Amino acid sequence: MNSFFENKIQQFINSPNNSRIWWHSIPLPNGDRIRSCHEDQELQFQMWNALQIDNSGGLKGKKVLDIGANDGFFSIAASMAGASEVTSVDKNWETWPKNLKYISKIWNVDIEIITADFRNYDFNKRYDVIFFFGVLYHLEDVFTSIKKLKNLLEDDGVLYIETQMSQLQSNLPLFEYASDIYPTIAIQDKKYLDNVGISNYLFPNESAIYNLAYSYDFDCDSLGGKKNRYSQNHPSRQIFKFIKKQDLKIRLTSDDLKSRDYLSGDWSLPETIGTWTDGTEANLSIPLDSIISQKHSNIQVKITAVPFLHERHPQQIIDILIAGKPLTQWTYSFSKSINSSKTLTIPVALIQQSNCLDLTLKILTPISPEAVGFNNDTRKLGIMVQLIEITGSYN
Ligand SMILES: C[S@@+](CC[C@H](N)C(=O)[O-])C[C@H]1O[C@@H](n2cnc3c(N)ncnc32)[C@H](O)[C@@H]1O
Repeated sequence: MNSFFENKIQQFINSPNNSRIWWHSIPLPNGDRIRSCHEDQELQFQMWNALQIDNSGGLKGKKVLDIGANDGFFSIAASMAGASEVTSVDKNWETWPKNLKYISKIWNVDIEIITADFRNYDFNKRYDVIFFFGVLYHLEDVFTSIKKLKNLLEDDGVLYIETQMSQLQSNLPLFEYASDIYPTIAIQDKKYLDNVGISNYLFPNESAIYNLAYSYDFDCDSLGGKKNRYSQNHPSRQIFKFIKKQDLKIRLTSDDLKSRDYLSGDWSLPETIGTWTDGTEANLSIPLDSIISQKHSNIQVKITAVPFLHERHPQQIIDILIAGKPLTQWTYSFSKSINSSKTLTIPVALIQQSNCLDLTLKILTPISPEAVGFNNDTRKLGIMVQLIEITGSYN
């Protein structure tokens, strides 16, 4: 077993880097364990186990974002469980990022550290997994934050939320408003209202969590139950797994393209593994009635195709037009390794009028295998389209 998760403790040691406080009790490679300020030194391990992520490789190859990472127990754990990239974000926490820098160096793991309020930071990429532990109730703007997290996730991405819950019993979704003057489940801590992420705002009940998942198109599992010693020991705290609903709505394989309903212009006859363009202008026309909703801002069109390339014709250049308007240009080169999938991001406004994806491939220099001396095929080939996948994305 990976020594981080081994959990045999030689001795607890107080702040090994002389910082004032450690929020997380984190193992050290020599078997010692950093003492946290919590009474329960097993808190983070209980939380981690409640997530039911396999310690040996459960996050293999995943890009993980740990929001409110604090001392970084969960960032290190993610890396130890196989994550290919870990990004940790926090802002005003007193020992940030000193403790995380210390512990990641000790464990020799590479972590991207971002000091920011995650709500207005431009991450510029998407993640497979987001940890959002102990942050939800620190937000004035729960709804826009969840919307942001959704957009930060890959299509089949997972958001783990750990939160203080309201204990108000109701079947209706309720958020309890943290207060210093009413006996709410935890105080507001009004004096820190001007800081990011210190004061408390809203504690959801279970229905509010499910409603939040529903509003932003997630499937939601409560990670309660026998394996969850964390919530058993801390009944007012729960962990939920939000799974981003697949937005994939249209998938056209080479078999689908055989019907030719979608094709016009310069296409060859569809073959089992795909359809060649044959000439300079090949059109695709795909009805999108079922996918366009008010909420979509873009659609992503991923086209898997192979180009016809030869040493005597080492490049295929293709202009892509949407509804007759130039969108981008694709270049395939003989000398470079070919990525057979290319994705177009198309603003919904460009297709909303017709509710149809009207895509033109302008092949600048099609050529026949015969012309390059490859065989006696006289079709003027550009690319062979094999698969078209269309997804909608939200604001
Ligand atoms: C209660 S602590 C939880 C720490 C850790 N995630 C855990 O569960 O043990 C909340 C952390 O989230 C950070 N935080 C809260 N709101 C934030 C925001 N908007 N942007 C970045 N960090 C935030 C705080 O600074 C703090 O370190």
